[in-house]
Amino acid sequence: MSKYKIITVPDKILRRVSDPLEKVSHDEKKLADDLIEIMYKNNGIGLAAIQIGIPKRMIVIDIGQKNKKKNPICFINPKIKKFEGKNSSYEEGCLSIPNTFIEIERPEACYVEYIDIEGTKKEIKCEGLLSTCIQHEINHLDGKLIIDFVSKMKRDLIVKKLSKNKINSDRIIV
Ligand code: CO
Repeated sequence: MSKYKIITVPDKILRRVSDPLEKVSHDEKKLADDLIEIMYKNNGIGLAAIQIGIPKRMIVIDIGQKNKKKNPICFINPKIKKFEGKNSSYEEGCLSIPNTFIEIERPEACYVEYIDIEGTKKEIKCEGLLSTCIQHEINHLDGKLIIDFVSKMKRDLIVKKLSKNKINSDRIIV
């Protein structure tokens, strides 16, 4: 069992810009395993290390459908080299922003350079849902959230609602 929990809005740590990893050793592999475990436990298709409070440029993604064989990918220091194609729009959710879905337009394909969990430099073309997901997760590494894609008024409303829920859930009722 992992000792981490998912950090949610309005926690300020989610706004922090994550630092690049300098090496891939035992500790980094353990972190990737923890992220994958937490992602599956919460039925997510992607998770960034900052979402469990660790400001390192590591994300994990598995866009496979439920019940299919698991195929998680860990991206270390991911960087988008190029966008391609038109924009496509998905209704995105985020494990750090419960019960909130926002329609967001992003380029339908992108080329991403990254280091894999063995420490090997790689580049892949991401399309469709993978393209959306990796852009969402890389946004996390730069302190950017899906609520930044809506107006300030709407954003304030979402944050206010989530802050209120948090206080209520901590309250003891007898
Ligand atoms: Co997210």
